[in-house]
Amino acid sequence: MSKILVTGGTGYIGSHTVVELHHAGYTPIIVDNLSNSNLQILDQIEKIIGVKPEFHQFDLCDDEKVADFVKSNPDISGIIHFAASKAVGESVEKPLKYYHNNFFSLINLLNAYQGKKINFVFSSSCTVYGEPDVLPVTESAPVKRATSPYGNTKQIAEEILEETAHAYDNYQVIALRYFNPVGAHESALIGELPLGVPQNLLPFITQTAIGKREKLTVFGGDYDTPDGSCVRDYIHVVDLAKAHVAAIQLLEKGNPNGRYDVFNVGTGNGYSVLQAIAAFETASGQKLNYVIGPRRDGDIVKVWGDVTKSTTQLGWKAELGIDEMMSSAWAWENYLAQHPIG
Ligand code: NAD
Ligand code: WQD
Repeated sequence: MSKILVTGGTGYIGSHTVVELHHAGYTPIIVDNLSNSNLQILDQIEKIIGVKPEFHQFDLCDDEKVADFVKSNPDISGIIHFAASKAVGESVEKPLKYYHNNFFSLINLLNAYQGKKINFVFSSSCTVYGEPDVLPVTESAPVKRATSPYGNTKQIAEEILEETAHAYDNYQVIALRYFNPVGAHESALIGELPLGVPQNLLPFITQTAIGKREKLTVFGGDYDTPDGSCVRDYIHVVDLAKAHVAAIQLLEKGNPNGRYDVFNVGTGNGYSVLQAIAAFETASGQKLNYVIGPRRDGDIVKVWGDVTKSTTQLGWKAELGIDEMMSSAWAWENYLAQHPIG
């Protein structure tokens, strides 16, 4: 069974990917410094897959630790690199934290694997497209100037990976550009664990519905969209996790497109904030307390992905719809209310 290093594997998307890797017959090995996750997630994963994944706690910004890890784990054939700082707002206040964490961790890994055959899957984001000129947005759309240091780390990381894969033939890389990951595992044993007040829509919705927040503010109701609120391509985290397995499998076969490639990972459908709220109300049977408020600075008005390339060349397609996204997020919020983590 191939061993796959999952950096950030106790985090939101990483934990779901560890589960899907196991189901697909891989042995996931997690490295995480727990800066934005909790050790208890390992027990939760064990409840789902029946084994506790191998776990190493250290900071990937520590080049010696990374080099030691790589030396003592020579049989790892692939890396899925989730570990990064990801809060857009915080990145504007603390750009150096983001440039430090997101670049040093990536470069340390690439350096430590110099000369060793390695398949590398990178967590990128639809943020690289900014406000697209054409919708749905394809992978060949221009990358727009980033509006936050976080977004900039994703753009520059893609460039670092492309140049590295072209310069050294031991690396084969796929960057997955995620749209908006939401939802939780069907078991409701793992899901998103936002620190403090959630900045993202779905955890804010579920925390409001359960009574942790008084009301949701819809950021803007006067945009040029059918109902005036912003439109996004929400993607179920379990589908997203499966896209990583598909990427590893494609790299193992050899990607005919070459040593560096990018794929959109979304459903291809856009939902407005008001449609997302309505879908949540239907799936949960809860009325949500919300108001339409002012626009949020820097918000993209509408973005959804063209998933033709992922469907035909990655061999992956989203299977779960907005109902499953909402009902699983709600089940997870209810689980957390009974079994707090962290
Ligand atoms: P997360 O914060 O839940 O998971 C990231 C994990 O990485 C955490 O467990 C954290 O402790 C760990 N980590 C961070 N820096 C580390 C370091 N230096 N060394 C070791 N571990 C470290 O985030 P997530 O939502 O699961 O996102 C995973 C990846 O996907 C990130 O790269 C993120 O930028 C990207 N992404 C996320 C979204 C989203 O909306 N969640 C969208 C697009 C892209
Ligand atoms: C979704 C929609 C908000 C909260 C961010 C990053 C992006 C990517 C995903 C990592 C928007 C609206 C939200 C609220 C609201 N992350 N909203 N009230 O902004 O699409 O993307 O996360 O790569 O890079 O920028 O996601 O969940 O914050 O917002 O009305 O309280 O919900 O305006 O239209 P976003 P989000």
